[in-house]
Amino acid sequence: MTSIVKTVVATGATSGLGFEAIKQLLGQQQPYKFILGARDVATTQAAYSKVEFDKNQHSVAVLPLELSDLKGVKSFAAQVLGRLGQAEKIDYLMLNAATAYGAEQPGVGSKWCQSYVINHLSQHYLTHLLRAKLVASSSRIVFVSSGAIRMVKDPSTLDTDLKPGSSVTPHTIYADTKLTALLGTHWWRRELADSGCTVVAVSPGLIPGTGLSRGMNVTMPPEMLKDAKSVAEGASSILAAFTRTDFPDDPDRIFLTSWGEWWGREEIAVSLDRALQDKWSPSKEEIEREAGIGA
Ligand SMILES: NC(=O)c1ccc[n+]([C@@H]2O[C@H](COP(=O)([O-])OP(=O)(O)OC[C@H]3O[C@@H](n4cnc5c(N)ncnc54)[C@H](OP(=O)(O)O)[C@@H]3O)[C@@H](O)[C@H]2O)c1
Repeated sequence: MTSIVKTVVATGATSGLGFEAIKQLLGQQQPYKFILGARDVATTQAAYSKVEFDKNQHSVAVLPLELSDLKGVKSFAAQVLGRLGQAEKIDYLMLNAATAYGAEQPGVGSKWCQSYVINHLSQHYLTHLLRAKLVASSSRIVFVSSGAIRMVKDPSTLDTDLKPGSSVTPHTIYADTKLTALLGTHWWRRELADSGCTVVAVSPGLIPGTGLSRGMNVTMPPEMLKDAKSVAEGASSILAAFTRTDFPDDPDRIFLTSWGEWWGREEIAVSLDRALQDKWSPSKEEIEREAGIGA
């Protein structure tokens, strides 16, 4: 019987698919210690207090995290590390938070729009900040991605699209930011290749009715909705990325679909350009310099 507690650090587990994924793990025999980032700690604690689970087996800690503010990401990372003993691992880092708003607002202290900072830059920065612990833990890092990345046909538009005040639609901004996050996922896969960490991108499928689709404020055509899945199914698809070990021989094929296949190179072609991966994966120092974050 497996009884060693596994630690999961997660973003975006306060509502929608992330909340459901943690709920499903709370129903398992495997004991878990969850450390979750939330912009509304009290509401998240109240939501988890309504979930029935064995408190002797699992623990849930909720820490403040506002992903539009890179300084806050630094203090979240410090609090996460402070909660873990020297020998304690992070078994899983689940980067699931996202928003589907347009480019109207700037990120706090950033030249980029808020959606980019939330959906990619902050979670990329968090991975930098936790890097030593992730490596010491041989962690599995699960980036929740989206089939929307295929909407981006010409990544040279990212530079202008993602600036605050650009006039492209929220749909485009969402696809752009999920693509930059996937570029970052490839970058981390290469960066951590010999570290013992496993890096996976996963799509939950099309799940209407989460906070994300409410943010997009669009009515989906019936032909799209025929592929829609429930929140429980979407969360299970995300959790498949925690356990799958049948990785393709091609190390670039890191994208697990909601129907359980590893996408081929042609489906993720736009994300395979290594120069583009490098461009959208700034170093910790670059991020801190731009955001005015001191040591
Ligand atoms: N739903 C779909 O059809 C679909 C399809 C493909 C991929 N995905 C991906 O699945 C993931 C989960 O999406 P979802 O559909 O479950 O959306 P959701 O219900 O809107 O959940 C998004 C999560 O991100 C958090 N979040 C948003 N902005 C934040 C911020 N500024 N700071 C901290 N946390 C923030 C939300 O926190 P609050 O609770 O505070 O709002 C929530 O926990 C996303 O990565 C999304 O791109 C979804």
